[in-house]
Amino acid sequence: MEPFRVEDYAEFARASLSAEVWGFVQGGSGAEWTLAANRAAYDRVRLRTRVLTDVSRCDLGTTVLGARLASPLGVAPMAYHRLAHPDGELATAAAAGATGSLFVVSIFASETIEDIAAAATGPLWLQLYWLRQREILVDLIRRAEAAGYGALVLTVDAPRVGRRLRDLRNAFALPQDVRAVNIAEPVMAASHESADGTSAIERHSREQFDQTVTWSDLAWLRERSSLPLVLKGILTAEDARLAVEHGVDAVVVSNHGGRQLDGAVPSLDALPEVVAAVAGRLPVLVDGGVRTGGDVFKSLALGACAVLVGRPVLWGLAHSGAAGAGAVLGLLREELDNCMALAGRPTLADIDSSAVVLRQGF
Ligand code: FNR
Repeated sequence: MEPFRVEDYAEFARASLSAEVWGFVQGGSGAEWTLAANRAAYDRVRLRTRVLTDVSRCDLGTTVLGARLASPLGVAPMAYHRLAHPDGELATAAAAGATGSLFVVSIFASETIEDIAAAATGPLWLQLYWLRQREILVDLIRRAEAAGYGALVLTVDAPRVGRRLRDLRNAFALPQDVRAVNIAEPVMAASHESADGTSAIERHSREQFDQTVTWSDLAWLRERSSLPLVLKGILTAEDARLAVEHGVDAVVVSNHGGRQLDGAVPSLDALPEVVAAVAGRLPVLVDGGVRTGGDVFKSLALGACAVLVGRPVLWGLAHSGAAGAGAVLGLLREELDNCMALAGRPTLADIDSSAVVLRQGF
């Protein structure tokens, strides 16, 4: 069946990936309430359409922290793209480039920072978890700068990996041939070791992630790079204000795709309070549950400057590598263009809070 919407790719991915990999990609934490709520939040937002506004040419182009984008779309950082396709992040880089999308490369990428840069034709940012061994971070930052990455994205909602029940049931461990190649092997060894009733990913994070980090540690990171610093995983006005006070350059409103704290507020619900708190002092991105161009439109109307897309990119990769991931991103862009035309908002600046109305409850 030819895919006409992003979720058609999920059907294909589910059928083609192993049950364990599908569980890792698709799963959330706990009862997966937040995972479902991320989607449901979009369904509570309705579009207010305007008419007679000349929508013959919609303008989707934008710039985020100096990254010129064909549309306000990026690939969220996700570990181990080679789980979905043998070309891994090289395919994703090609797909992002072909569609003018941002690509945020995970610290646990399964291709090297340098090879991804060579395959890319568009902007790249590098995502970091705060590992105990800070010299690893220093090395990654130096390599990212040398390879032309445009920003560092520190993920702050994962002092350790959440309780992902699918991975616990499957005793999920990474296959030997899919590795976090940017980090020395001994540091990653635990994520390949299977043990009944546990997730190797979770065990590894308890070993290697630094859970002591606080706001004051951001200065250490700042001193080691002149690249813009983005915090990913902000869900409250309080933390958004702290991000501004600590000189952060952008935030991503995110609950990690429902993979960290189950019960955490859906990203779209948190977006307005974060946008209000930063009051235009830094750009706000959002991720979690974006599956249509209409979802992108709703995110922009509620104050995001761009959205990141996670799982759908891996579904596209599983379908057909770079072509599939590119098709997913292209479909979202096409749907956004269509949504802007039919809502009578031909430029991104036209997509303001008057473009949506919120329905409370379900
Ligand atoms: C992720 N996510 C993630 N985030 C991060 O900061 N670093 C990482 O390495 C990963 N790895 C990862 C792997 C997989 C398989 C998934 C599905 C997700 C979270 C990701 O960046 C993003 O926040 C969510 O995926 C967004 O939600 P959707 O679009 O998947 O609903």
